[in-house]
Amino acid sequence: MIDRQTVDRILDAAEIVDVIQEFVPLKKRGVNYLGLCPFHNEKTPSFTVSPSKEIFKCFGCGKAGNAVNFIMEHEHLNYPDALKYLARKYHIEVVEKELTSEDIEKQNERESLLVLSAYAARYFSENLFHSDEGISVGLSYFKERGFMQSTLKKFDIGYSLEKRDALSKKAVDDGYKLDFLLKTGLSIQGEERVFDRFSGRVIFPIHSLSGQVLGFGGRILKTDAKTAKYVNSPESEIYHKSRIVYGIFQARKAVTQFDKCYLVEGYTDVMSLHEAGIENVVASSGTSLTQEQVRLIKRFTPNITILYDGDAAGIKASLRGIDIILEEGMNVKIVLLPDGEDPDSYSKKVSNEEFLKYLSENETDFIRFKTQLLLEEAKNDPVMKANLIRDIVRSIAVIPETITQTIYIKECSSQMQIPEGVLYHEVNKIRQQKSFQDKNRYPRPEDLPVPPPVIPRIIKQETTTFFSEKEIIRLLLKFGSTEFERRIRGEDGQEEVTTVADYIVREIISDDLSFDDQLYARIFEEFRFSVEQGIFVEDRQFVKHEDPEISKLSADILSESYQLSRIWKDKQTYVETEDMKLKDIVPDAVLKFKSDKIKVRLKEIMHQLEEAVKSGDQEKILALQKSDQNLKMAMRMISEKLGKRIIL
Ligand code: CTP
Ligand code: MN
Repeated sequence: MIDRQTVDRILDAAEIVDVIQEFVPLKKRGVNYLGLCPFHNEKTPSFTVSPSKEIFKCFGCGKAGNAVNFIMEHEHLNYPDALKYLARKYHIEVVEKELTSEDIEKQNERESLLVLSAYAARYFSENLFHSDEGISVGLSYFKERGFMQSTLKKFDIGYSLEKRDALSKKAVDDGYKLDFLLKTGLSIQGEERVFDRFSGRVIFPIHSLSGQVLGFGGRILKTDAKTAKYVNSPESEIYHKSRIVYGIFQARKAVTQFDKCYLVEGYTDVMSLHEAGIENVVASSGTSLTQEQVRLIKRFTPNITILYDGDAAGIKASLRGIDIILEEGMNVKIVLLPDGEDPDSYSKKVSNEEFLKYLSENETDFIRFKTQLLLEEAKNDPVMKANLIRDIVRSIAVIPETITQTIYIKECSSQMQIPEGVLYHEVNKIRQQKSFQDKNRYPRPEDLPVPPPVIPRIIKQETTTFFSEKEIIRLLLKFGSTEFERRIRGEDGQEEVTTVADYIVREIISDDLSFDDQLYARIFEEFRFSVEQGIFVEDRQFVKHEDPEISKLSADILSESYQLSRIWKDKQTYVETEDMKLKDIVPDAVLKFKSDKIKVRLKEIMHQLEEAVKSGDQEKILALQKSDQNLKMAMRMISEKLGKRIIL
């Protein structure tokens, strides 16, 4: 938990143009800034940043929000992490509440391990490019394999000298604690002395999403293969193999852009694909994906395409890994490379165009892939065929979306020539078994809800009150603290100032009306609270609201009026600004709100009346008729008032 005070300091410091400019080149246009929207593809800029309102809005795709929303959206971070990002940018110390001394120690240790890993990565890279041994052994190896220098730099590739304790010794000399060298696994404690884990290997640093070095993979160059070809960092406070995929830092932007992620097996496959112009690629590092890795990718795209080596004996085993991806609701496609090729070798063998063409032409959905692969060996053996069908049905059963499931069932039905009904029956059987199992076990920690919950905003279009509710909220957000009227109080001659918020809140609660839209209701509640407590509502409070949904909505609403005024300006006609006409606009909006509410209520009464007439409940009929009359009278009064003003 970041305390509110710190949150406010961060929000105050985060200058929106400054924040966004780091990612999007902006040009000044009048009072605002304009650029190409990073959230959708566009050729003419419609992404607007208003420094005065402290919001951004894209008039192309509709995305809007404050600086924090931008970072959340652009960097795929949750709210607290976006705040921390900004805090770092503006050198604000984030004090998280309720940290125990143990937490702090852990945090410090984590920091130390990260610092040491970054140091080691720099050292390895120095070796590769600038030491005699590194150049003649490491660099020449990569050259021979056909990798470009720029790719080696992009992936921070390095070389660990043959000397058994080169890094350990240098690091200790440079003041790094042996304890941390051992904890990162860079060094290994031998009987008498300390050894480098990676000596004599080329080094592939493994980066976090944001580019921090978490761990390393090291490949042996000798072919006498007494040791494993690859050695990897052990699990540590900073490196959890199951939670990271290799290359995600270098891939994330392209993954978002192309809305797809290629999955390959190894470090060199990732690098080769980059050289072939495909940057949206990550590697599982030789094992099948874990759920956490799948979720990491899913933060950027729901589409994953797996590239399989042409001769991989392990394909069948890894097919099971696909179920994990399906279970997360992702779309899985598969490309089988030609016999004997892996992504690295094949991308180097053919031109980039041919490689891309191969990928797009050979991309198969997983049902077709699995059936083709397994049908081959099942051939005419009915028992094997039955097993195969069961196998595929199991995969289909884990897909959370019914629509995708239906499509796959259709596909499977035609591929295997089995009636769809039979497949549905099987799928349902498996699902029932599974839900029984789920109900009968204790929740695991990873099953518990993950914050922050994003509640989809469902707008019920049939309610006629939505737009009048919105207008009230807009006026509150925009003019809440503006003076509405000023009166001299009778007794003491003192002036009494009513704000727009005071007026609106009083009008609405005196008639006991409320908001149907949940988000509007929450915003109104905050205004109501402030008015009742006599707290001054600061204008920007809502754009900076701690609930990202409210801040986003506020930015959205406030930018809408901006768009309006721009249209006015274009017409070159002088229009009174809204705040000059508040005395009319605000009461009108309130009246419209009330009349819409009454209309809805009248409809309800109609229905109730019909029911009451059917059941012959005289008392109820009378009561309803009375309400109906009262409401209609109120309605007439409102219409009159509204009508008069419109004539004016
Ligand atoms: N791997 C590993 N440990 C091993 C073998 C493999 O961690 N002993 C992981 C590495 O991440 C490696 C990937 O599995 O990149 C794929 O293995 P492999 O195909 O053998 O390596 P390549 O990436 O093809 O490496 P190279 O082309 O350099 O032989
Ligand atoms: Mn290879």
